[in-house]
Amino acid sequence: MVNLCFPKCRLLRVMGPLQIILGGLVIIVSISSLFRFYSAGFFLHNEDICRHFYGFKEDYEGFDIKALSARVEEVLAQMESLQNKLESTVQQMEKNKESMTANISKTEYKKFLEEEVIQPLYSAHISLRQIRFPRAEGIGNATIKEEPLINSFVVEEIRKYITPKENRLGKINFYGTGKVYNTIGHACVLMKKELEEYMDYDIGSYCKDDWNQAQKLMINGCDPLPRRRCLTRASKLYLGPYPINESLWRIPDGRNVRWSNYQCRNFECLSSKNPKRGYSKCAGCFEMEKEKLKWVTNSSLPVDFLIRDVLGIKPGEIRIGLDFGVGTGTFAARMREQNVTIISTALNLGAPFSETIALRGLIPLYVTLNQRLPFFDNTMDLIHTSGFMDGWLDLQLMDFILFDWDRILRPGGLLWIDRFFCDRKALDDYMYMFLQFRYKKHKWSISPKSRDDVFLSALLEKPPRSL
Ligand SMILES: *[C@@H]1O[C@H](CO)[C@@H](O)[C@H](O)[C@H]1NC(C)=O
Ligand SMILES: *[C@@H]1O[C@H](CO)[C@@H](O)[C@H](O)[C@H]1NC(C)=O
Ligand SMILES: *[C@@H]1O[C@H](CO)[C@@H](O)[C@H](O)[C@H]1NC(C)=O
Ligand SMILES: *[C@@H]1O[C@H](CO)[C@@H](O)[C@H](O)[C@H]1NC(C)=O
Ligand SMILES: *[C@@H]1O[C@H](CO)[C@@H](O)[C@H](O)[C@H]1NC(C)=O
Repeated sequence: MVNLCFPKCRLLRVMGPLQIILGGLVIIVSISSLFRFYSAGFFLHNEDICRHFYGFKEDYEGFDIKALSARVEEVLAQMESLQNKLESTVQQMEKNKESMTANISKTEYKKFLEEEVIQPLYSAHISLRQIRFPRAEGIGNATIKEEPLINSFVVEEIRKYITPKENRLGKINFYGTGKVYNTIGHACVLMKKELEEYMDYDIGSYCKDDWNQAQKLMINGCDPLPRRRCLTRASKLYLGPYPINESLWRIPDGRNVRWSNYQCRNFECLSSKNPKRGYSKCAGCFEMEKEKLKWVTNSSLPVDFLIRDVLGIKPGEIRIGLDFGVGTGTFAARMREQNVTIISTALNLGAPFSETIALRGLIPLYVTLNQRLPFFDNTMDLIHTSGFMDGWLDLQLMDFILFDWDRILRPGGLLWIDRFFCDRKALDDYMYMFLQFRYKKHKWSISPKSRDDVFLSALLEKPPRSL
C-alpha cells in the first residue's frame, strides 16, 4: 500500500504534520483572542458591568479577583509553552527537511500530536472553561455575583461542593432561604494541594484510609472540611461495643478500631508505661484502674475537686454539659453515673480517642479549637475543661474560646477549670482572662506543679444577665 503512491505520499508526509501543527496554532490563536474578548467583558451584557469589573466597585466585593487572575495566568502559561513547543518543532522541520521529516513514522507522529499538542491544548481548554466570571443576577437592579473561592479550586468535586445548591423549582425552603451553602474553612485555600488530594476519589467508591489526612487539614485550619461522597472504611473485624453495664469502665475491644495510622496497633500498647505509645496528653488515660480514681477519690492536691462536691453546689440542677479536653471520656462516664449527660470533645491525636469514648457508650464530639461550638446560647449547665488549655494558647485565641464558652453556658451554669497549668509568670494574664466575666467564685485554687509551673483550678458560676 505504501509503495502504490511513493512520490506523492512522500510529499504528503511532509505536508501533513505541518498542516496539522499550523492548524493547532490557529486554534490557539483563536482561543487566546476569544479569551481576550471574554476577559475584556464583551460577553457580559451590560456596559456597566465592564466598568464595575475594572473599577472593583462594591458589586464585586467578595469575588476573588486574585484567584481568577491566577487561573488566567495558568492558562496563558500553558498556551505560551505549547506555542513555543510547536514553533520550535516547525523550525526543526525546516532545518532537516529531507533527513528528519520525511522519515517520521506515523506512530511517532501520532504520539507527538497526542502528547505534545492535544494534551496541553485540552488542559488549557479545561482550565479556561473552569474559570467563572461574576454573573449579573436579578432583573431590576442587577448585582454581580460569583461564589467566593470558586476560582481557587480546580478539582471538580470541590467546585461542586462549594457551589451553593438552589432549591428545586425556585422555592423558598423552611429556613427561609433560596439556596443552601456548604461550608468550608477559609484556610482550605492555603492547603489547596492536600485538599485536592483528599477530594480525589470516585463518587460512591470506598474512600482512602485517610482520616489522619483529614484531621491534619482540620487542625491546620481547613475546618470545616468539605463533605465527601465516598464510603468510609471500617475495621475489618468490627465486633460492636460491650453492653452498657460493662462498656463504661472497660477498655474496648481493639478489633473495633482501625489502627493503621497510629504508632500502636492495640489498646495495651497505649499504656503510659510504653514510651512509644504515640500520644503525650493524658498519659495513663487508657488504663481503667487509674481512670477510676479521678474526681472521686481525695487527692493530696487542693486543685483536684471532687464531682460530689461540685454537683453538691447545685443539687439536681446540673444535667447536661460539655467536657472540653483530651481524654477517653472518664469524666463523662462518672457524670453519667450521676445522671448527668456530658459530651466530650475528642480529636484522634496519636490514639483513637473518639472511638474509645464512643465504644464506652459516651458521646465524642469531633471538633477542633478552630470552631464556634455547635450549641446555642445559654444552653449548657456545665463546662468542664482539663488537659489541653495549658498556657500555650495565644491569649486572643483563648479569649475568643472563653467568650464562646460563656455564650453556651446558661445563667447559673458552672465553668469548671480543672488543672489548667502555665508558667508562674503568665498566671496573672490567665487569671485576668478567667475573671473578666465576673463569674461567682465557688472554688479557686493554685498549687505548684514544678519549679516554674503552677496549676490553677476554679469553679465559677455564670451570673444571670437580665438586660
Ligand atoms: C530515511 O529513509 C530513507 C529510505 O526511505 C533512508 O535511506 C534514510 O537513511 C532515512 N533517513 C534517516 C535519517 O533515518
Ligand atoms: C433593588 O434594590 C432595592 C434596594 O437597594 C431593593 O429594595 C429592591 O428589592 C431591589 N430590587 C430587585 C429587583 O432586586
Ligand atoms: C450485663 O447485662 C447482661 C444482660 O443484659 C448480663 O448478661 C451480664 O451478666 C451483665 N454484666 C455485668 C458485668 O453485670
Ligand atoms: C475525703 O475527704 C473528706 C474530707 O475532706 C472525707 O470526708 C472523706 O471521707 C474522704 N474520702 C476518702 C475516700 O478518703
Ligand atoms: C439516676 O437515675 C436513676 C433512674 O432515674 C435513679 O435510680 C438513680 O438513683 C439516679 N442516680 C443518681 C446518682 O441520682
